[in-house]
Amino acid sequence: MAIPDPTPGARAALRADLTARVTDLLSSNRVVAAGGRYTRPARRTYPHQWLWDSCFHAIVYHQLGDRALAHDELRALFRAQVSSGPDRGRLPHMTFFGGGPGEADQDPEGARAYAREVSLWGDPRASTITQPPIVAEAVLRVGDAALWRELWRPLAAYYDWWLRRRDPRGEHLYVSFHMWEIGADATPRGDAACQRLLATGRSPRQPDDASHNPTARKRADMLTARYLMHDDLRGIDGDELAERIDEAEAQRRRLRLLGHVGVDMQAYLVRNLSDLATIGEAIGEAAAAARYRAEAAAIAAAVNRDLWDEEAGFYFDRWDEPSQVIRVRTPAPFVALYAGDLVPPGRAARLLDALADPDRFWTRWPIPTVARDEPSYDPDDYWRGSTWLNVNWFTLRGLIELHRRAEVPRALELARELARRTCELVDLAGFREYYRAGGRAAADDATTAPAGFGPDGFGWSGIVLDVFRMLDEELA
Ligand code: GLC
Repeated sequence: MAIPDPTPGARAALRADLTARVTDLLSSNRVVAAGGRYTRPARRTYPHQWLWDSCFHAIVYHQLGDRALAHDELRALFRAQVSSGPDRGRLPHMTFFGGGPGEADQDPEGARAYAREVSLWGDPRASTITQPPIVAEAVLRVGDAALWRELWRPLAAYYDWWLRRRDPRGEHLYVSFHMWEIGADATPRGDAACQRLLATGRSPRQPDDASHNPTARKRADMLTARYLMHDDLRGIDGDELAERIDEAEAQRRRLRLLGHVGVDMQAYLVRNLSDLATIGEAIGEAAAAARYRAEAAAIAAAVNRDLWDEEAGFYFDRWDEPSQVIRVRTPAPFVALYAGDLVPPGRAARLLDALADPDRFWTRWPIPTVARDEPSYDPDDYWRGSTWLNVNWFTLRGLIELHRRAEVPRALELARELARRTCELVDLAGFREYYRAGGRAAADDATTAPAGFGPDGFGWSGIVLDVFRMLDEELA
């Protein structure tokens, strides 16, 4: 059906149809594990629990009106939180399926991936890196005072870990040490770091195997680089644990490996530290709340001081030690719009120029994860130009937020059109991991035909229900 101007009845029918499909999708991806239940991103390709996926799943359950499932999805994230040592508080980016009693019986095929992950990570329960820290906003959104009290300590411990461990230069700019931490695994923002690893000519200790993430293989060299990065990170952590090198040297080596300062990552932290503060204020944790608010403000100031490029009218990431600018245009600065007043209105106007530009981001099915005029742009490729629903969802919230704080009608117009096309895309192409971004909006050729890629039945694409809600509420 055509979303642009459906009759109210047709629109309600589409929303009801998508709601039923999302309910089925999440229930077929759900597992019961020791100590909880959670939803896998996709049964075959992603058989474990992933950190930020579960945050999206919880929000979708909340949208479906299922409080218990929403709460359990978030509780389960804390099963493998690091409880001692320098990394106490960290939440893993993956908590493995298949290691607990009874799990393997639910899905023998999924359980086969368990041994592989244990050997890759050297840990029986979970990976040893993290992912975008959006758990506080999910807890705030789906929770109530009882859940906030229950999760306060582990939640605060997670953000305390970020504050303690991931601002190695003390400049209120937080770093990722592996591409898998960024959430956008194959983004060309990591290409320089990956090329440096590939230039060594080494092979990964545990090479990729055919069963693992077929969607990531289009650029096999970049996948190899991510495994090399993983080997090196484990090597540094191993050295550190064995006390062969001191912590300062270990941090220097991690920064040299990637040391990625993402604009979107800073935005997630600004938004989530503010939301954590809101939770703290609601349950009588005023002193901690004030500390988190102050840090959110300090990050916002650092982003505007160090990552904005006035000539380009864009925020750019950094990496490496000493740090270098990554001049690749991706939607990361659009995501930043959702982080309260992080982006000043004058700068937001420049970002909207880029978003609305058909030669950059306004494709037939926006938002491409890389601008069309970048050499790395491929409208069908994994995080290298294709469209991802979570990026659209953050951006939509940012556009609505921008209008709320600074009265920017253009932001609402773009949001309305983006929301309509997002719903239409999912209706036509299904619940896929990522989608064809398409060529110029007006062109009528094969590159604009709607298409989805990666596993079918991908959980977080259910977030389209919240996009529909925005269309009917904030954007009505
Ligand atoms: C891919 C994505 C990552 C996601 C994971 C599970 O690795 O890049 O963001 O969390 O799949 O869906």
